[in-house]
Formats: sequence, structure tokens, C-alpha cells
Amino acid sequence: MNAITLQNVTKNFGEVTAVDRLDLEIREGEFLTLLGPSGCGKTTTLRMIAGLEDPNDGEISTKDRILYSKAKGVYIPPEQREMGFMFQSYALWPHMNVSKNISLGLETKKLSREEVNSRVHNVLDQVQMKGYETRYPSELSGGQQQRVALARMIASETGIFLMDEPLSNLDALLRVDMRSELKHLHQTLGATTVYVTHDQMEALTLSDRIVVMNKGRIMQFDTPAEIYHRPKNLFVAKFVGSPPINLISGYIKKRDASKVFLENKDISIDVSSSATALSLADGTEVILAIRPENIRIGSPVQGKPSVPGTVYAVLPSGSETIITARRGESEMRVKVSGFVEYVIDDEIHLEFDSNSILFFDSTTEELITH
Ligand SMILES: Nc1ncnc2c1ncn2[C@@H]1O[C@H](COP(=O)(O)OP(=O)(O)OP(=O)(O)O)[C@@H](O)[C@H]1O
Ligand SMILES: [Mg+2]
Repeated sequence: MNAITLQNVTKNFGEVTAVDRLDLEIREGEFLTLLGPSGCGKTTTLRMIAGLEDPNDGEISTKDRILYSKAKGVYIPPEQREMGFMFQSYALWPHMNVSKNISLGLETKKLSREEVNSRVHNVLDQVQMKGYETRYPSELSGGQQQRVALARMIASETGIFLMDEPLSNLDALLRVDMRSELKHLHQTLGATTVYVTHDQMEALTLSDRIVVMNKGRIMQFDTPAEIYHRPKNLFVAKFVGSPPINLISGYIKKRDASKVFLENKDISIDVSSSATALSLADGTEVILAIRPENIRIGSPVQGKPSVPGTVYAVLPSGSETIITARRGESEMRVKVSGFVEYVIDDEIHLEFDSNSILFFDSTTEELITH
């Protein structure tokens, strides 16, 4: 069952097409994230779902009604859409205490005083902010303010939550903390959640499914695991993952039916153990992609994909170490766990895990599947 459906939704701002014929089916109860670089149309999409932005074309509906339709001339205003918001800029009212910030939105719903008080009490309990009822926003830390904003959204008791970069004002540590809070809350409340972020890590950790957007269009719509392991195109491959995926441009060189290499002027990698590589024609221009954690530093093994390189930099960060190696114009990053030491300018050997190698078509930039 879809909680929200977007069909052919377009939004133009003058010459700029912010959202371009977007089709999206959001399932009931799922945590769906719109992920993409700045300006790709995430906020505009969310605001159209909320009713804060009027599309130029298409249709937006929930499971039981049409919210917007160009063709049918339907437009339901935001306050009647029964959705809870949490926007980055949607700060708390500074002159109202925590209780009032939460109850304000409920008073328009004509609830009894008892009902309002009980909701305020419950939501503050849920975000672990009990006891802060009479504090003013200026007397709270950034993380606590976010929790109150979260509480305010939960208090609306709508089945749909819309969040636009709600954690972007927090420092790194708090952000990780709030991620668990959000995930836990989602599991408890089960509300359909549409979440906007440009932080790929946030998207991967929180979401049931991710929509990767670029220039107002969907580049891939999939589970975090699929997005990470099977990016449909180079854009998604490059946007998701930190440190970024390694890319080596070259062409396929077939020695015989079972021996195939990826070559460029600096590198010759035996990729015979990749079924995809075997299926490619001699001379095909491709981009080999492999994630840093799927490379090992070791000694060359006959028939396995590997490449020599020179240590360029070693970046330990405690739980892991990133080693950058160069070979001609190609630069490769390797991720190994723990503190590992390598000497700059030493020659090392990079061994690729055959099952983790992906190939993209150099022209279309699409993932090659066989
Ligand atoms: N009110 C507006 N008037 C004119 N152009 C706008 C307006 N709002 C958004 N745009 C343009 O539409 C495009 C998409 O903007 P949007 O805010 O949806 O991007 P975003 O993905 O949320 O980016 P960010 O990650 O920076 O928040 C951008 O090119 C932006 O400049
Ligand atoms: Mg935005």
C-alpha cells in the first residue's frame, strides 16, 4: 500500500526546472530518504508533498485522496494534509517555553486541555526531554532543541512525517546520537517518513529506501544495500560511500576466451575472474569501480585482479586507516581496519576482491550487467 504517490510531478522556478517529471511511490510506514547534492530538488519535492509549494504539473495523492492534480484542478492546502513537519529552518518559537512550543500546534485541533497536556507529556517522554517543560529554547542545547522540534512533530499524531535536513545544525557527535533516536522512534511509531538529506551516511543508516536525485530527476530508487553495492550509474556510485569508490578508466583487452584484462596506459589488471568482464567485447571502453574496503594490500596472486602502486598518503583515523596509492595517473584508496603503518613512496600491491568489481559503460555511465 502506498502512503504517498507522485506522478509526473514537475516544478519550475522561471528557467530552472527544480523537479522534472518525478514519479515516486512511498510505501506506508517506510522511512524514505531523498538524497542528492545541493540544488537537486529535494526540498522542493518535500515542500510539494507538504503543500507549501505548488507544482506546475502532475499529481500527488495519499492512499485515500488526491492532494494535488493539475489535470483535475485539485489543491489541498497544507493544514488539511495531515502531515507533520520538521524543517531545518523551522525553529522553535524563542518566546515560548518547551510545553507551549509543542502545544501551540495542537490548540488549533480543538483538543481538550487534558488531551493536549497528555500529548505534550508523552512526546517529551519519547524524546527524553521530560522535566524541560518550562525551559525556553535559549536555555537548551542544540540537540535538545532538535528533540523538542521532533516532539512537536510527533505530537501532531499524523501518519506522515516530513523532515528536511533536521540534523544539519548539530555537531557530528550529536548528529550520530539523534540518528539513533530517529531510527528508534520510527520503529516505535511506524509513521511514513520522508526525510531529506545531502549526507549519504545519514541516508544509508536511517532509510528503508533511498531516492538518489540529481538535477530534479531520480538516479536510483532502492534499498541502502542495493544503492551501495549495485549503484545503477556512475553518479550514484560516486555520490554514495566514504571514502569514495575507486574508479579506473580503461578498455577491455581480451587475450583469449578466458583471459581478459582492463588496461590503460599505466595499468593492466587481470579481470578474468569477473563474469561481467568476460562478457565484454575486446576494446570496450569501461570504468572499473571498486570500493576502498574491497581492496587488500598483499602480494600478487596469479589470475586474481591486482595492481601495483606507490604509497602516496596514509590516513589513520582510529578504527580504520585509509591508504592512498598511485599508479601513473590513477589514484586508489584502500580502507583497512585499525591503525596500520605504511611508508610513503613504498611499492605495494593492491588486490581487488573479484566479486566486488563493477564496470560502468564509459559513454552512458550506466552499470554494466551481464
Ligand atoms: N523559491 C525559489 N525560487 C527560485 N528558484 C528556486 C526556489 N527554490 C528552489 N529553487 C531552485 O530550485 C532548485 C532546487 O532547489 P531545492 O531547494 O529543492 O534543492 P535541494 O536539493 O533542497 O538543495 P540543498 O541540499 O542545497 O538544500 C535549485 O536550483 C534552486 O536554486
Ligand atoms: Mg534543501
